Amino acid sequence: MRHLGDVSMEAGGDGRAMVRCSGAVPSDRLSTDDLAGQLRSRVIGGPFLYHEEVASTNAEARSLAIDGASEGTVVVAESQTAGRGRLGRRWLSPAGQGLLFSVVLRPPLPMSDVHLLTLVVACAAARAIESMADVPIDIKWPNDLFSGDRKVGGILLEIGGTQDVVDWVVVGIGINVNTDLSELPAAVSRTAGSLKSASGTAVDRNELLARVLLQLDVEYTAALAFGFARALDGFRERDYLLGRDISVQTKDGPVSGRAAGINERGALIMQLSHQQVRCFHSGDVTLRV
Ligand code: BTN
Repeated sequence: MRHLGDVSMEAGGDGRAMVRCSGAVPSDRLSTDDLAGQLRSRVIGGPFLYHEEVASTNAEARSLAIDGASEGTVVVAESQTAGRGRLGRRWLSPAGQGLLFSVVLRPPLPMSDVHLLTLVVACAAARAIESMADVPIDIKWPNDLFSGDRKVGGILLEIGGTQDVVDWVVVGIGINVNTDLSELPAAVSRTAGSLKSASGTAVDRNELLARVLLQLDVEYTAALAFGFARALDGFRERDYLLGRDISVQTKDGPVSGRAAGINERGALIMQLSHQQVRCFHSGDVTLRV
């Protein structure tokens, strides 16, 4: 792990590790200093591991999870050299401008339900963003965060376990916060947005990180206690695709129709042109123009 200025790892009073930084931390840099205090006694309560640069916070959290890291471990980075996106894509983010972090969870869920956590995470991130930036967030099924027609964030779940039982889940979240879109490759900046470009105001990344983690803690513990109804409702309030003409890539080729919401299992419902309905449990969705 690289360290920020004079940084040291130490055990907190409750035995959880914290990252400590001595000396002034410039306000535009991430610091995990306050997180342990703000998230004390929460499920997502640390340890908080900070990297100036890492290949991928998901890769890091995954190997920690495999090595037995406790639920609530959070890995944060200012930049990634091999940020992972869905479907084998890359996640690109200029250093120090966005949020890049991963959380280790150990949900007592059957493997057949674990994909529903994607909706929990997406709703938590959307609610946290809206609580501090004047930017309404829609969710493009299953896990993209949109402001208007621009993608401002993405979520990547990686899951370990047996066919039936979940051992660990790594929740990776990338948010373009104050991202200078001109620093992204043209192919990405054509569709990417940032909270700053959407709202016209820079957003405090440390505060947003704390709010996303707190909201995720609330939504996650609620989902485990009461089920996924709240996440399904939250998604439906923010369904970016609803009523739009879309194509879903399947292994047999693209299927086209109109997005008609999600069902109780979180699957995308598509109304086909000939009065038929089809559901998709995974896939890459594009808008038809
Ligand atoms: C997507 O939109 O395809 C998902 C992108 C997820 C990116 C985040 S950034 C932090 C975490 N670490 C990774 O390598 N990926 C996720």
